Amino acid sequence: MNDKKTVMSVKNVSVRYQGTGDSADTLALEGVDLDIYDGDFVCVLGPSGCGKSTLLNVMGGLLPATEGSVDMLGEEVRGVDPRRAIVFQQPTLYPWMDVHANIAFGPKVRGIKSEETDRRTKEYIELVGLEVFAHAKPYELSGGMRQRAALARALVNDPVLILLDEPFGALDAFTRTTMQDLIRKVWKSTKCSAVMITHDVDEALSLATRVITMSALPGTIVKEFDVDFTNYVEDSEEDFRYTKEYLDLRKEVLHLIKQR
Ligand SMILES: Nc1ncnc2c1ncn2[C@@H]1O[C@H](COP(=O)(O)OP(=O)(O)OP(=O)(O)O)[C@@H](O)[C@H]1O
Ligand SMILES: [Mg+2]
Repeated sequence: MNDKKTVMSVKNVSVRYQGTGDSADTLALEGVDLDIYDGDFVCVLGPSGCGKSTLLNVMGGLLPATEGSVDMLGEEVRGVDPRRAIVFQQPTLYPWMDVHANIAFGPKVRGIKSEETDRRTKEYIELVGLEVFAHAKPYELSGGMRQRAALARALVNDPVLILLDEPFGALDAFTRTTMQDLIRKVWKSTKCSAVMITHDVDEALSLATRVITMSALPGTIVKEFDVDFTNYVEDSEEDFRYTKEYLDLRKEVLHLIKQR
């Protein structure tokens, strides 16, 4: 039996988007049950348009469920909360603020003392390796650097749960691998729980402690796999990928998400 603390409980969640004009309603999620435990790194895979972002938005409190409920640490999720950090595919940084100011923004509006805000901001700038760019504006950064800044901005609030919606999807293969190593390092050092949506099976298998596969619309959870490659990997290029166990699992997950 699992004796870990439950951080979030998604209970029988369905989401129906109302059609407008001639377009019909869309049942995006149906009867989704999912518990996130302390220290989990859950990766969610599924066909395009199956409701993955919808699920993440419901977990983040950005979108209400049509049916069912979401609890975090025993409280119903309603609206945004600094204990839940959300990172999107396109980093959402304030263009007029430099990296330091973007990261410091959250603690500042929460009324954290300026010395403490500054100390934490510097700590996270260092963690994501942006020291040299602390005073650069977002337009002066590469895509990978922007995403690192967005990650630091999410982490500076010390979230219990970090929700990531294809955060590395817009990056080239090399930067993507570097970012995967960074997120693993962050997850191991901060001991937060993470839920990450990805289209990339290798990304999921190299980062997750649990891999969840979803069906095509309406999105439901099809199968869950416990994995632990991430616990003994520091560099995504390590050769765990060539083991029979890894290749068999990869094949099964790919087969599941290709089924319509
Ligand atoms: N705001 C909205 N209004 C109406 N329908 C929506 C809305 N957002 C999403 N949908 C529909 O809900 C379904 C699920 O969308 P969602 O964005 O959750 O899928 P996804 O799995 O994240 O897709 P992708 O892998 O392409 O990012 C799709 O059919 C989409 O058209
Ligand atoms: Mg999506």
